[in-house]
This record gives sequence, structure tokens and C-alpha cells, in this order.
Amino acid sequence: MENIRAVKLQSPDYMGLDPEEAAADFRERIRHYESLYQPVEERDLTYARLVNVGSQVVVNLIQGYLQSRIVYYLMNLHATHRSIFFSRHGESQFNVEGKIGGDSLLSPRGEQYSHALPKLIMQHLGSENLTASDPMVWTSTMRRTIQTASHLRYPKLQWKALDELNAGVCDGLTYEEIAERYPEDYANRDNDKFNYRYRGGESYRDVVLRLEPVIMELERQHNILIIGHQAILRCIYAYFMNLPRDELPYVRIPLHTVIQLVPKAYGCEERRFKVAIDAVDTHRPKPASSSASTPIPNATG
Ligand code: F6P
Repeated sequence: MENIRAVKLQSPDYMGLDPEEAAADFRERIRHYESLYQPVEERDLTYARLVNVGSQVVVNLIQGYLQSRIVYYLMNLHATHRSIFFSRHGESQFNVEGKIGGDSLLSPRGEQYSHALPKLIMQHLGSENLTASDPMVWTSTMRRTIQTASHLRYPKLQWKALDELNAGVCDGLTYEEIAERYPEDYANRDNDKFNYRYRGGESYRDVVLRLEPVIMELERQHNILIIGHQAILRCIYAYFMNLPRDELPYVRIPLHTVIQLVPKAYGCEERRFKVAIDAVDTHRPKPASSSASTPIPNATG
């Protein structure tokens, strides 16, 4: 019924119709389908059948890695209405200095943000009447995300898999220092940011793989708030918004902004709430052409 209300009643067939009347019509339509549809029961076919959005799962002749991963994925999906909130940690001391990586604490403005967060989440959690239950809060194991979550009175979980992209030998450097010390790496990253792997560190591709268990668990969860990092939240955002991999490393996930995604049948609804506390801009736009170098963000900006 939830599925009928959330999805089918939005279809052009039912525009302007009384919802109860439309739902009754759709149930009638299902009865017609039932009289015509033939259930797949052949023992020699490979199939997975999900009854009532996963309350029962029937699998037949599932073989090999990919097929079993698909079944595992489908078993974790649910269609219950919920909100997924993302926020980067509050502005960190490293953000202010323009340095990447590290495990620094929050700047004074970042701390202010951590104080503002509980009220903001509370306000928007109740903005859709079906999503008002308390969210679970996930952070990384890094101090800046734990500190940002510290005033939230919800159950919390730290995930190592949510730690920021490992910048290897470049950890703790500014983008200017990277361009100076490792010019070739700097250019290579601009040429193919998704696949570029920092020396001794990670690429976005690596991060996508390490986030798989997080994504799977996210699919199982109801309301959730993730306090994360720029690169990590780009990957999670791109998954829900179905973005291509060359756009993924350039998604704008500004500091001091909460992003709310509400999964719907054919995509997510998105809202962004900017908190009125200044923070530096750590976003480096995509270079206009592969040979051009990307402007370095202004650490004070
Ligand atoms: O600058 C903040 C930060 O989270 C760094 O720690 C990290 O290396 C960087 O963002 C990731 O963003 P980009 O992939 O654009 O360099």
C-alpha cells in the first residue's frame, strides 16, 4: 500500500483523482495483472523473486559471484520512507590552513557549526511527517567528525570505512605544495581524478570499493545522518544521485551545509540547508581542459 501511495498515484493515469479512489483502482489493476501474469517457477531458470519488497526472497539457480552479489543487494533494499542526511564535519584547523588530510580538530567556526547542528537536524527531520523517527548518526574515526557529532543526542557509530580519502605522501600538504613537490602527480590527478591514486594512498575508485559495506548498510537503514568528509560524501552522494564517475570527484559538498536526500521510486529528492556560519571553500573545480591546471582554492575564502 505504501508503494501504491508513494509511486503509482503519481503516475499520469491518476492525476487529479481522489487518492483513495486511485488506490482502489490500482488494487483492481493488480487483480487483473494477477489473473494474467505467470509466476516464474521453472527449476532450470536463474531467478530471484522478492515478495512484498523483500519480506520473502526466493532464489533459484543463483551461481557465481555477480549473481550472488545482486541477490545480496536486493535483499538489503527497502521501500520505507526515510531521510538520509549528510554533512561534512565543521570547518577544521587544516581546512583553514588549506591543508588536506590529517586528523586536526575543528576551528572555532567549525565548533560553532557542531553546536548549530542538533537544532537543524531536529527541524528538518520532522519536515516530512513520515520521517520523524530519530536518526542513527555515523561518523568516521577521525576527530573532526566525532567532534562535530558530539552535541547530537542520537545513537552513534564510528566507521573506519568513512575516513577521508588517504592522500598518502601528500597528507598534510596544501594543494600549492603538492603542485610544487609533485607536479606530475598534480597534473595526473587533474587529468583523471577518479582513477588517480596518491602515492602510498588512495584514489576515488579505491574509496568507492571500500564504501561498499557502508552503502549496503545504508540501504538497510531508516533515518540516518552521516558526518563525513568531502571525498567520502561525494561518493555516497553520487551513488544515490546516480552520477557518472567523471563528475563524482567534483561534486560540491560545501562545509557547514546539511544535505537531505529522500529516496523515491525513481531517484532522490534533494534539499540543502546552509548554516549561517562562514567556512573556507575547499572545492577545486574541474580544469577546463585536461592540460590546464586547476585553480587552487583560497584558504581564507
Ligand atoms: O580539503 C579537505 C579534504 O577533505 C581533504 O582532506 C581531502 O584530501 C580533499 O578534501 C578531497 O577533495 P579533493 O579530492 O577535491 O582533493
